[in-house]
Parts: sequence; structure tokens; C-alpha cells
Amino acid sequence: MSTTATQEQAFLEVIQSRRSVRQYDPHTVISREELKEMLTLAAKAPSSANMQLWRFLVIDSPELKEKLLPIANSQQQVVEASAIIAILGDVEGYRKADRVFGQAIEAGYMPEDVANSFKERYVSLYSSLPSDRIREVAVIDASLAAMQLMLVARAKGYDTVPMGGFDREKFKEAFNLGERYVPVMLLPIGKAAKPGHPTARLPIEDVTFWNEVK
Ligand SMILES: Cc1cc2nc3c(=O)[nH]c(=O)nc-3n(C[C@H](O)[C@H](O)[C@H](O)COP(=O)(O)O)c2cc1C
Repeated sequence: MSTTATQEQAFLEVIQSRRSVRQYDPHTVISREELKEMLTLAAKAPSSANMQLWRFLVIDSPELKEKLLPIANSQQQVVEASAIIAILGDVEGYRKADRVFGQAIEAGYMPEDVANSFKERYVSLYSSLPSDRIREVAVIDASLAAMQLMLVARAKGYDTVPMGGFDREKFKEAFNLGERYVPVMLLPIGKAAKPGHPTARLPIEDVTFWNEVK
């Protein structure tokens, strides 16, 4: 599908204007409906075998945000942002394979026999992966959704900051994640009270190899 110059311009503007924002207007409310719409778009991200091992824990209760504050190294954005989306990886998410492939059959995207054979193959593969490998798959899926969510939020006039600075063990305990859900990052979302500061990037030549790693 081709893209018009205007669409390209608008998309590039979203990318160029995203910055990590650490000060939020505490009075901005984002409705659950709007959050759901943004999460639905974030979940259009690609994932390994389309298993969608991302999960979103939306924290919009003021009490829970306060509970999160010490766990997140007292980073104030977790109480000031409208909501915190905890991006999780679900290491047992492949159990929803029936659902994933059932939807593909229903929508006419895949013949039933093809879908069933894919499903069997992937469930057998995923359930036999070593725990560090399935964890890696879940973290990659979840990270792709997180990036997409940051851009969707920006396109809708909101700001975000990806946060890895929090105590994972305490977070798991506080929010009853058990062993199934891996906390990947926290994503405060809201309206900036102060713009994020500009950041520089390494020249692309410094981070790109052509055909061989030197
Ligand atoms: C995995 C990851 C973890 C991060 N953790 C934090 C964090 O705990 N607190 C914070 O203020 N920013 C955090 N950041 C934001 C980075 O500092 C920021 O993305 C980087 O400086 C580039 O700035 P920009 O996002 O405005 O382009 C994190 C970013 C990533 C990707």
C-alpha cells in the first residue's frame, strides 16, 4: 500500500516529536475508552508467530500509583501521569493459540487445516522452549508493543516515558504477577507539564554495519 506525502509527513512528525516526558499535568484524565483504543492500536504490533505475548496492566488508581512510587525509585512521573501501563510479557501466552488461530479461520485469513497445523506446531514448540528462551520471546513481543504504544500516544497528543528503573521483584509481589508475567517496563502516559528535554543520537555510521560486523 502506498503512502501519501502528507501521511508520511504526519508519521515522521510523530516520531520526531516523541520524547521521554518526566513531568506530567496531574489533572489530565485519559478515559479508559481512549486508553483501550490506544492499547488496541499498540497491539497491532508484530509478534513471534502472532502469539502476542504482551500483556498490559493499566494502573489508573491513585492509591496504586502511590504504592508504585517507592517501587519505581520514587520517580514522580508514576503518580503524576494519567495512567501507568505496565508492559508485561506472558510466558504462558501461547495457551491462547486456539483463540489466535480460531480468529484467523473465522476472518477467512487462513483455511482451517492450515491454521490447525500451525497451531499444533507452535504450541508444541513454545511449550518445549527453555524458560529463558520463552521469556526472551515474551520480552521482545512486549517491547514491540510498548514502542508502538509510545508512538500511538504521541499521535494522539499524549506523552510517555519508558521506564526500566523499578524493582522488578517488588513490582511482581505488589501486583501479584506470579511467575507467569514478566514485568518488561513501566509506561507512564499523560500530558506533559514540562516538555521532555532533547536528546542526541550516535551518528548512524557508528551503529550500522554493512554485511559484516567490524
Ligand atoms: C529500557 C528503558 C528504560 C528506561 N528507564 C527509564 C527510567 O527508569 N526513568 C526515566 O526517567 N527514563 C527511562 N528511560 C528513558 C531514557 O532515558 C530515554 O529514552 C533516553 O534518554 C532517550 O531520550 P528520549 O526517549 O527522550 O528520546 C528508559 C528507556 C528505556 C528504553
